[in-house]
Amino acid sequence: MTTAEKLGQLNQMAGGRQIALNSRINEAEYDRVRAGGVGSYLHVAGAEFLAELQRVAVEESRLGIPLLFAMDVVHGYRTMFPVPLGIAATFDPADAELAARVAAVEATSAGLHWTFAPMIDIARDARWGRIVEGAGEEPFFVSAMARAQVRGYQGTDLSHSDTILATAKHFGAYGAGAGGRDYDSADISERTLYEVYLPPFWAAADEGAGSFMVAFNDIGGVPTTANRALLNDLLRGSWDYQGLVVSDWNSVLELINHGVVETRAEAGALALLASVDMEMTSGIYAADMAEAVEASPEIQVAVDASVLRVLMAKERLGLFDAPLAYNDPAREAAVMLSPEHRAAARQVAERSMVLLRNDTGLLPLADAPGRVALIGALADDARSMIGSWKAQGQPEDVTTLLATLQERLGDNLVYEPGAGTRGEADPEAIARAVRAAESADLVILVTGEDYNLSGEARSRSDIALPAPQQELARAILATGKPVVTVLMTGRPLDLEPLDADDATILVAWFPGTETGPAIANVLFGDVSPGGRLPASFPRRTGQAPYFMGHYPTGRPADPDLSKDSARYMDIPITPAYAFGHGLSYASFEYSGLNQSTDELVQGGTITISADITNTSGIDADEVVQLYVRDPVAQVARPVQEMRGFSRVTIPAGETRRVAFTLLPEQFAYFAPSGRFEADAGRIDFRIGSSSDDIRLTGSFDLPASVIADAPGAALVTRVEIEGE
Ligand code: GLC
Repeated sequence: MTTAEKLGQLNQMAGGRQIALNSRINEAEYDRVRAGGVGSYLHVAGAEFLAELQRVAVEESRLGIPLLFAMDVVHGYRTMFPVPLGIAATFDPADAELAARVAAVEATSAGLHWTFAPMIDIARDARWGRIVEGAGEEPFFVSAMARAQVRGYQGTDLSHSDTILATAKHFGAYGAGAGGRDYDSADISERTLYEVYLPPFWAAADEGAGSFMVAFNDIGGVPTTANRALLNDLLRGSWDYQGLVVSDWNSVLELINHGVVETRAEAGALALLASVDMEMTSGIYAADMAEAVEASPEIQVAVDASVLRVLMAKERLGLFDAPLAYNDPAREAAVMLSPEHRAAARQVAERSMVLLRNDTGLLPLADAPGRVALIGALADDARSMIGSWKAQGQPEDVTTLLATLQERLGDNLVYEPGAGTRGEADPEAIARAVRAAESADLVILVTGEDYNLSGEARSRSDIALPAPQQELARAILATGKPVVTVLMTGRPLDLEPLDADDATILVAWFPGTETGPAIANVLFGDVSPGGRLPASFPRRTGQAPYFMGHYPTGRPADPDLSKDSARYMDIPITPAYAFGHGLSYASFEYSGLNQSTDELVQGGTITISADITNTSGIDADEVVQLYVRDPVAQVARPVQEMRGFSRVTIPAGETRRVAFTLLPEQFAYFAPSGRFEADAGRIDFRIGSSSDDIRLTGSFDLPASVIADAPGAALVTRVEIEGE
């Protein structure tokens, strides 16, 4: 390979824009392909269209190396699943895997080999717009969801033409941006980096994720795109990661903005030496690096290593043997929006919903709830239902809640948009909504954010409901009518004025193509809600970042204001709604706690189990959660960490025994030694229905310290269910 051909393999060009796929593939691009000047395109799609581009690469370039075609397929390709934070709220890795699998089947049928997903950035600050794209705040939980999505996207054999290369993104600590601002600096300790932000990436690599994407931001002033300690020493060295690392959009060029280089060529050199294999869209590798490569043996070695990893990714996908295996127009037509895919999207959407409050037992609704007023523009906002990063999702494919309720309730339904999410509320529109509410027996108020108030570059300084929505909510609540609130959102929100006394609140996130049927099935009790919060809801913006796994401090927060403690004086010390919170239409009792041993020895395991009884008259799911606390260690340890969860379907009146089996290494933390260690001593554990609804507790000892080679949160807890 010539130097130009090598650098061409490392060059990823935008073949279009998200909203105009393929739009930049002109004759000049075909010539670039013929010259071997590009290795991959993103924002392209179409089995037939990409077949021609691939044919030119394979038949009309000197080396005939196939191209990689990529897109952000983050929560569905054409059949849209809930936004990722909603998928996480299912608290079931099987749902996350199913969503990824369906997305892979549809995306690969359209000629795509590579998705920039899963996004597994830990998000502890609800102001950050991209919290919507991930699985929330908790390292063990996000690690489990990372593994499930990698399995879903990549299947068991990447050479199968319905499997797609996954991307663990955005490697480092993208979610730690100061102030919850997107792209901002992550000024965090090494311990926080290793214990909080990196475990999901370790898990994704362990699960075989074929690629990583670096984050835009710097960690302590070192831009991740040029962070040799993080990429070369840790990822390539300690973790021995052999996969493909891709930059983020123009992030190589942005090294100039970071102020660590002055020229494009200097930026390219830093990124290449940091083993960023493929450069997304800034074109520096292909256009500016030939001379530097010729002049520097060190950069030459780096380029060769990167080219090998790019070629190996293409080999894993089977593209050298069958470059057009992903280009079957008949398959593309057959799989898009299939009934099976719609059914899967509806199932995951139903299971993603979180019942925050049901104070007066208003839910589930009776089949004939009388005259219902459906209030809120979001009830008819098909575009918002498919969220950000919608890939090829189409609003016209969406069944809105309005459409479903019109069909289900007919003349017993009156609808008023009342207010949108932007600008000023229209008093007359609100007045119409109030009149509709007053004419009804029951109000369903659909409120929250629209899809574009979260996502990339969508951080908010205030996580309150948009002003017109607050105004509408106050007016509707003032009618005194029974109100069921359905909350559409991409982030935890300050729920003022919704979470007043006697509230009924169902979090629906943005549920995807099957929005209407999914929400209606939960509201009318066809499905009992079983979702849980993957991120804490702060009481108000000032409490952000709020997360469960914080350190106790020397003066642990105390509700007694007369005591000086780590708290605000003007609000309670708890979040509005805790990590893992979610109600059900059923009720469950926890009993029969058992632990297989009182001492967890090196090489041994401990199994902690309990009986969960559905004491209600309806079949329902319960999410059984296992938390731990290391009360005394070489450094302060979080007040609570998750180490197990299981969503279990338990028929009315029946009991299931849930057993969690753990290894000593799962209690290892980033010790002052720089290794992952667990000290000899006691470990406390708690089993409950939420992080703040603990039902059973116990403890055991680690008789000897443990040295591990992985973050404890990244390891897998085995779960067994007895009685099914
Ligand atoms: C974006 C995002 C990244 C995405 C990439 C390609 O800026 O940060 O998540 O994969 O560009 O669309």
